[in-house]
Amino acid sequence: MTPRPRSIVVLTGAGVSAESGLGTFRDKDGLWTKYDLQDVATPEGFARNPVLVHDFYNARRRNLVEATPNAAHAALAELERRFDGDFLLVTQNVDDLHERAGSQKLLHMHGELLKIRCERCDMVRPHRDDLDLVTACPACGTAGSLRPHVVWFGEMPLYMDAIDDALALCDLFVSIGTSGQVYPAAGFVADVRRRGQAHTVELNLDPSDGFSLFAEKIYGPATDVVPAFVQRLLATT
Ligand code: OAD
Repeated sequence: MTPRPRSIVVLTGAGVSAESGLGTFRDKDGLWTKYDLQDVATPEGFARNPVLVHDFYNARRRNLVEATPNAAHAALAELERRFDGDFLLVTQNVDDLHERAGSQKLLHMHGELLKIRCERCDMVRPHRDDLDLVTACPACGTAGSLRPHVVWFGEMPLYMDAIDDALALCDLFVSIGTSGQVYPAAGFVADVRRRGQAHTVELNLDPSDGFSLFAEKIYGPATDVVPAFVQRLLATT
């Protein structure tokens, strides 16, 4: 661990929400073992069968509304609150559990499940109910133009300029609960290493695809390893 980091970027993935009861994607019972991501997580899949895609996200939205943040979300919110340097939490998760735990300096690079977007006018707004093919956009009035505000494969992740700026400045990069299989997030550790300025840490249940690129690795359930890591970090700052 760097003795006194001044600027921290934390990247999270589905593993941080697993113990809140939200499924991960690539674990044994993960979502991508039950659904073909080409069908439910691509613009082409949505064009082919929008009902299937709405059903998939409607079910995930209902699960999310029932879920609650866990000790890992709470620890990251505490880190943001108590750390006096620059801090940014970048999440690949479309759930809102980080916000509900109190995180504020947070970017959802893969979008947000509890928001909808109009494909016609680009309106984005909060939405907690099921989506269907007939509801009209409240902004432009177009019927059937609404989709979940999530990034699908083949689409550009959000906030990449701000994320790149934070990665360029950080002296501690921590990756939590992600398999390291989806780019650009999977490439962040290599970007940081190339610049040579930051300590890199992986917290995960198992070694990720990019584990060898991290200087420090701690393996275990997020609700154990994240609070312990945050307390150790706060003791050095
Ligand atoms: P994955 O399902 O690919 O990986 C989840 C990681 O979390 C795995 O490495 C697990 O070992 C780990 N994990 C599982 N349970 C855990 C626990 N209790 N504590 C700590 N770690 C645990 O999910 P992501 O890496 O987030 O994108 O997936 C990245 C992107 O792929 C997602 O944002 C989504 C998906 O397709 C889109 O849909 C665009």
